[in-house]
Amino acid sequence: MEYDFNPSIYRLRESPTRKIDSVREKLAREGRDIILLSTGQPSIPPPRWVREELAERLLADDMRLYAYTPSQGRGSVRDAIRRELARHGVEVGSDQITLTAGGQSALFSVAAALFKPGDRVVVFDPMYFGYWPLLDYIGAEAIVLREDLDAGFQPPIEELKETLSRVRVKGVILVSPEQPYWEGSRW
Ligand SMILES: Cc1ncc(COP(=O)(O)O)c(C=O)c1O
Repeated sequence: MEYDFNPSIYRLRESPTRKIDSVREKLAREGRDIILLSTGQPSIPPPRWVREELAERLLADDMRLYAYTPSQGRGSVRDAIRRELARHGVEVGSDQITLTAGGQSALFSVAAALFKPGDRVVVFDPMYFGYWPLLDYIGAEAIVLREDLDAGFQPPIEELKETLSRVRVKGVILVSPEQPYWEGSRW
């Protein structure tokens, strides 16, 4: 049966991380001993008190737990995030904070709001693979600037300036901390 899919999905390429994950799963099922170096899985669990609190609440017959929340997220939670950010020297109002189901969802919402087909967007490579589907789906064009190991994987500022002076760029995706990550790679 032929489905009438949105043509944008044909521009999506398979995530290399996920591809490696499925190879790992297949080899593991064949009994091979595999060390996975693709997906960075969390290495520490959430604090015990958080899990205890969640477990207790999930068992309560309280329908408020299942109620819809405001689209931007609960005001009390956004306020708590604002205070936490302020503790780290980042001053933003609660109305500038939106809760999403993960970072990828936030990135998609921002990219979909800002970029349109044909827009040029600067990304720094090596980078988190999840930026590709955002740009591919929208049909925006990535301008890829290389970050060097020798330069500590910092964004190449001179090259960025040169690119911005030459090309009409709609956006620059700049995330900190980024991948590859270590303390020194924070901007
Ligand atoms: C740099 C970067 N941005 C965004 C994400 C996506 O975050 P999430 O898993 O919360 O969707 C990841 C996940 O690995 C990431 O490493």
